[in-house]
Amino acid sequence: MNFTTRILGVSALFLTIFASGCATQQATVSEKSLYERLGGKDAIVAVVDDFVGNVVADTRINKRFANSNAVRVKSQLVDFVCQDTGGPCKYVGNDMKTGHTGMNISEAEFNALVEDLVTTLDKFKVPAREKNVVLSLLGSMKGDIINR
Ligand code: HEM
Repeated sequence: MNFTTRILGVSALFLTIFASGCATQQATVSEKSLYERLGGKDAIVAVVDDFVGNVVADTRINKRFANSNAVRVKSQLVDFVCQDTGGPCKYVGNDMKTGHTGMNISEAEFNALVEDLVTTLDKFKVPAREKNVVLSLLGSMKGDIINR
């Protein structure tokens, strides 16, 4: 092995260590759960509280919840969102398909509920990245919620 080869070898080794150091750091940053990025349980409780307030005031969908116990629904939603975003909570309710089967929910109603959530996320200034992840999570459940 001549000098140049050895220098190249050592440089490559340093580059590898440096690159893996960067990769580890990047992994640590992106490993933060959505739950943490949203601000943890207190933030989720505040968001759900405001969101349920919007839904109750929304004449497009509020009749759906006329017979609901708001305290129970809020607590179910907090546990659901907390668990679904990687938090430490345990949601013990129905899965979304079972929970909404037979309700005959339309796409317009689904969109109304999403709009009510967007109003809350904007009010709480949830950054675009987290907002988009939350909205795509909701979008992924659409097929289970709408049953018309
Ligand atoms: C992605 C969107 C939605 C999510 C994540 C969601 C989530 C939930 C959760 C976690 C529950 C509790 C289930 C249980 O108690 O087992 C629930 C119940 C319910 N949802 Fe949804 N929901 C969504 C969309 C909708 C829409 C669009 C409507 C109608 C406009 C709706 C109407 C209801 C009603 C009426 C209940 C029963 C509430 C009660 O127990 O009194 N949901 N939902």
